Order: sequence, then structure tokens, then C-alpha cells
Amino acid sequence: MGCTSSAASDRPSKNDPLLDPPPPQELDPRIPLTARQKFSIQKSWKAIQRNMEGVGMDIFIRLFKAHPEYQDLFPEFKGMSEEKLRNSINFETHVGIFMNVIDECIDSLEDADHVINLLTKKGRKHANYGVKPEFISDIEEPFLASVKQLLEDRYSEKIEEIYKLTIKFILEHFINGLKESVG
Ligand code: HEM
Repeated sequence: MGCTSSAASDRPSKNDPLLDPPPPQELDPRIPLTARQKFSIQKSWKAIQRNMEGVGMDIFIRLFKAHPEYQDLFPEFKGMSEEKLRNSINFETHVGIFMNVIDECIDSLEDADHVINLLTKKGRKHANYGVKPEFISDIEEPFLASVKQLLEDRYSEKIEEIYKLTIKFILEHFINGLKESVG
């Protein structure tokens, strides 16, 4: 009773977590990143997290400059200059909500079901805002340009590729949700 030094317990056991660390989690083919790429973007994203509001505002200012008609879809932002937008609490709130969705996706890349459900749900809701599926990829450029501007020389070619893969993945599932709604 209570004896731990038997020959049997000294023998390496198949289930001993010290001898047999759990195998690395299998990659989910729905997530287009390797484990190393996930680690890299989550690490890089920390710099964005410290500047969520600035980066989010920059993304939407760029989007509205390239597509002024998209600004008109937001009743509260219609006709506002860049300066007015930057000083608007409503704009700040909206970019905060947008960035939180992107943040949750990047934070949860280990859980494809969660990310895909979230994006499908959010995409679906956009049918109520007059947003068409073909509008959505227009946010890719503003997103990448704003991340690049913030990261400066930390935006290497390698991390750029990872951001591209990630935003394409995010937008793809968002568009799928929106398409479900608009048919
Ligand atoms: C991945 C891309 C996008 C994400 C994650 C996103 C996220 C959001 C979120 C979280 C909201 C708040 C309401 C809700 O939860 O449904 C929202 C509202 C809205 N979004 Fe997006 N959005 C994206 C792309 C776009 C694009 C490209 C446009 C315009 C072409 C757009 C136009 C709108 C409009 C018009 C509203 C409603 C605003 C209001 O009436 O207050 N969104 N978006």
C-alpha cells in the first residue's frame, strides 16, 4: 500500500506525461497557417492591441477614402470629413467593435470552429446594413496598409505574408456568412 518504488512504477510508462509529452496539436486544415505562423502573428498583433483605436480608425478612413459610397452606408458617418470622423465618439465606438472582432479571430486561431462561427454570424448580419458580399474584400488593402504603418520595420516580408493569409481567411468566412443572408 502506498509503495511507489516497485519495478513496475520505475519502468517507462506509455502514459507518463514527463516521458511522453503530448503530441503537438494537429493543424486544422481550415486555418491557413502553420503553428509557427500562428505564433508569429499573435506575437506581432500585441503591438496592434496597444493601438487598437488608432489602427481601427486608420483602416476605416482608408476604406472611406477609397470608397466614399461605403461611408454613406453608415447613417451616423454620412458626409463627415476625416477630421470630424476622428473626433466622433460614434466612429471610435464602431472601430472598437470592428477591431474586437478581428482581435478575437487572431486570438482564437487555435479554435477554427469558434472563429468561423463568429465570422459567419457577423457576416450574415451585414445584409441588414446594405453591405454586399463584393464590398467586403475592399477592406483588405486598408487593413494591411494600416498594420504596415503601425509596425514600420517590424513589418517584414514574412509577417506581411502571414497577415495577408490571415485577413483573406477572415474575409472569406465573413463573405460566406453574408452570402448566406443575401442568397
Ligand atoms: C471583416 C470585416 C468586417 C467586420 C469584422 C465588421 C464588423 C462589424 C461589426 C462588429 C459591426 C457592429 C454591428 C454588428 O455586430 O453587426 C458592424 C457594423 C456595420 N458594418 Fe461592418 N464589419 C466588416 C466589414 C464591413 C465593410 C467592408 C463595410 C462596408 C462596406 C461594413 C459596414 C458596416 C455597417 C454599415 C454597419 C452598421 C453600422 C450602424 O448602422 O451603426 N462592414 N461591422
